[in-house]
Amino acid sequence: MAYENSPIFVDETPGIKHYCTCGESSNKPYCDGSHSAKGTGKTPKEFMIEEERRYVICDCGKTGNSPFCDGTHSRS
Ligand code: FES
Repeated sequence: MAYENSPIFVDETPGIKHYCTCGESSNKPYCDGSHSAKGTGKTPKEFMIEEERRYVICDCGKTGNSPFCDGTHSRS
């Protein structure tokens, strides 16, 4: 799977977001449906963004605080 060893910084606007958890999206950090097309067995993380600001989204697939980076990528 195409996970990376660093998070994605994104300036979000409020609303429901669907973040990629499989690592295969061509539109990270958002799901583009590749999880289904590639048979990853994963599904996107639906999350409500309440506040407009910069967020740090996990792209290593190991965070304990999905969809946000918790620093796990730098400890493994
Ligand atoms: S493309 Fe990765 S979860 Fe949908």
